[in-house]
Amino acid sequence: MLSKAQFLKHLSLLVLTIQTTTLVMVLRYSRISSGDNSGHYVSSTAILLSEIIKLMVCLLILLYQTNGSLTSLTQLLRKEVMAKPGETAKLLIPALLYTIQNNLLFLALTNLDAATYQVTYQLKILTTALFSVLMLHKRLALNQWLSLVLLMIGVTLVQWPQSETQSQPKDISSDELETAISVVIDEPLGNRLIGLLAVLASCFSSGFSGVYFEKLVKYTSQSLWIRNTQLALFSVITATIAMCVQDFDLIYINGFFQGYTTLTWIVVLLQAFGGLVVALVMKYADNILKGFATSISIVLSTVCSYYLMTDFYPTTSFLSGASIVIAANILYAF
Ligand code: C5P
Repeated sequence: MLSKAQFLKHLSLLVLTIQTTTLVMVLRYSRISSGDNSGHYVSSTAILLSEIIKLMVCLLILLYQTNGSLTSLTQLLRKEVMAKPGETAKLLIPALLYTIQNNLLFLALTNLDAATYQVTYQLKILTTALFSVLMLHKRLALNQWLSLVLLMIGVTLVQWPQSETQSQPKDISSDELETAISVVIDEPLGNRLIGLLAVLASCFSSGFSGVYFEKLVKYTSQSLWIRNTQLALFSVITATIAMCVQDFDLIYINGFFQGYTTLTWIVVLLQAFGGLVVALVMKYADNILKGFATSISIVLSTVCSYYLMTDFYPTTSFLSGASIVIAANILYAF
């Protein structure tokens, strides 16, 4: 019989796998079905909207926890957020890093082709493990290190560029979630070195921020939803600044919702939901397991797209990569 903690751990990982698979499918579908000009919405507005939705959901959950009383909610926020500026300020670090990470990934995608970007970004599996060891003093057995290296190789192979005739449209992985919401990948490639450095920095930011948040929700007294509210509060501010710095003119001329379609909204909602599930996974499972759940969903979404959209033909590198991902999962568990 599973304990409540074990149950929540498995449930959060399962929901993350389903959420990531669904989001990848919707993103892919939106790219296949959109015409030349649709979907050209401003990505920074979509990122901001998903942060606002996350903040609202966090507040609603806290309201539910305080039995629907607005007065109790206000008291709780005063006591846990305003009266503890030191604790609240701790969330400024991941909020800033996630915002920088999103922007770095955008920079990476404008300077690198999507395949190189995706493959290089898999390094975050190792940076996450490294930070888990350094910051949480996690001890990994030899088979677990080996499985992490295998996982990285497996996901890399799964996303390895297919031959020209098979590569339409390009694969979009969960790792592009924040940025690929609307990034137009066919921009002229700029400086590859800048792109590579941006992805590498994102790998470190992703690993560090994830483990930092995990440490806060596992080893400090404030609840997950208070921590999420603090993170969302700062994220709304940093996402607004990032939006103004990058796209103020564009938004001023064509409006905040330019290029929005129903699919855009679905992606924004899924993205917000995904962030909340990621937080649950960090609390009840851990960041390393999050990497495994994401890898499985990358394989699943590719297989689904083969059956549902017939836009993908399994290649040898995909099949061997998928087998390695599955083997890595089994190896890590034993
Ligand atoms: O690529 P990576 O796994 O680092 O992405 C994590 C995502 O989860 C980011 O988009 C971040 O904004 C989101 N997140 C969140 N709430 C948390 C932790 C992460 O929305 N508590």
